[in-house]
Amino acid sequence: MKREQWGSRAGFILAAVGSAIGLGNIWRFPYMAYENGGGAFFIPYLFAMLTAGIPFMIMEFGMGHKYRGAAPRVFARLNSKFEWLGWFQVMLAAIIAVYYVAVIGWAISYFNMSFTQSWGSDTNAYFFSEFLQLGGDNGPSKLGSIQWHIAIPMAIAWAITFAAIFTGVKGGIERASKIMMPLLFLMVIALIARMIMLPGALDGLNYLFEPDFSKIADPKVWSAAYGQIFFTLSVGFSIMLAYSSYLPEKSDITNNAFMTVLINCGFSIIAGILIFAILGNMAHEQAKPLTEVVSSGVGLAFVTIPSAINLLPAPYILGPVFFFALVIAGLSSHISIIEAVTSAFIDKLNLSRKVAASLVCGIGFVVSMSFATNGGLLLLDLVDYFMNNIALLASCLIELLIMGWIIKLSDIHKHVNNISEFTIGNWFEICLKFISPLFLLVILGTNIYTTIT
Ligand code: PHE
Ligand code: NA
Repeated sequence: MKREQWGSRAGFILAAVGSAIGLGNIWRFPYMAYENGGGAFFIPYLFAMLTAGIPFMIMEFGMGHKYRGAAPRVFARLNSKFEWLGWFQVMLAAIIAVYYVAVIGWAISYFNMSFTQSWGSDTNAYFFSEFLQLGGDNGPSKLGSIQWHIAIPMAIAWAITFAAIFTGVKGGIERASKIMMPLLFLMVIALIARMIMLPGALDGLNYLFEPDFSKIADPKVWSAAYGQIFFTLSVGFSIMLAYSSYLPEKSDITNNAFMTVLINCGFSIIAGILIFAILGNMAHEQAKPLTEVVSSGVGLAFVTIPSAINLLPAPYILGPVFFFALVIAGLSSHISIIEAVTSAFIDKLNLSRKVAASLVCGIGFVVSMSFATNGGLLLLDLVDYFMNNIALLASCLIELLIMGWIIKLSDIHKHVNNISEFTIGNWFEICLKFISPLFLLVILGTNIYTTIT
């Protein structure tokens, strides 16, 4: 059977960008930049993007394009000894998929509530006690019983992902990306345009961008930048391999990789502007210093932002737009993770796409319901910590060591140069063989050390 193909170059790039742009760009990057030197953070961030992000993306696009598969097949074709790495990556992707979808489910609920701000004025108490049913009388006794107000929006998220994967690369994933990504950009730009006019918003931006150059000397800032680059680009999880395996024979790999990385990182900065405009306005309205309202992750999205929305003019418009953007950013990433898993099984077992998609989404749905219990947040924090701080870095490091030192990276280099418009020089291999593994080793080592001590 002929391998499926993207319908257009723009379709592929939008799908890859859709994977890269996710919750991480919105709730992780802004805080990370703020905390690690503000404007000065862009120096390590750009350095990480150039020495790790872009070469890694070129490499993965080249691998998927040359060997035509998701990770297990790609590694098996490189050397049958390494098929396990492919399955390890697919397993990590599957784990991410089941908790990522929980957050998308929460975002769908909050989208729904945002029309009337039914989360009330104490958004912290609302999120933890009422929404997640944590603490107090609702404690461990309820552990294990599914909460329908979370399970149902999660089911909606699964249904959308399933529809895209089931329909196929061009008709499903590409079409979804072509709708979702432009919409996401439009909504975020519209939100910024409105927010920027509100009092305090510009002060928020000053906080974000004010450079603290003394931070540049701190190794922690550099490891934050590298960690964020690997996470944000969705590399090391078989995703970009699967997506690039559907590229036509003649494809400009290098160019595609540059575009994907630059659009993702550009979006991160735009998202930073949005988040800090919102935080700046909130600090102004509450007459608090910005340092007291700034946050990231789950707390930012479901506690801080809702209470900032309460203070906005026309919250019933700006609130839904914000949460709709969050849902779309999450869904397009979720689709990519599920596609990585699904296509690995299609490759290996010769299943039809429809059967593989049904199995993967069906099992994924059932497993993900563990996050709809009131142990969900605890479980999510744990898994998320492990994935971001250890598994992802380990996976990328092993991939680089194998590609750079055991398998000939120069084959991929040649392949990419043969089909791309501009050729890339030796810096490509130097980054992937030396610079990136060194950084990964140091960050991973530090993370493992702090986890066990
Ligand atoms: N890149 C996505 C983000 O920034 C997260 C993600 C990681 C998506 C791994 C898919 C796979 O949120
Ligand atoms: Na991203």
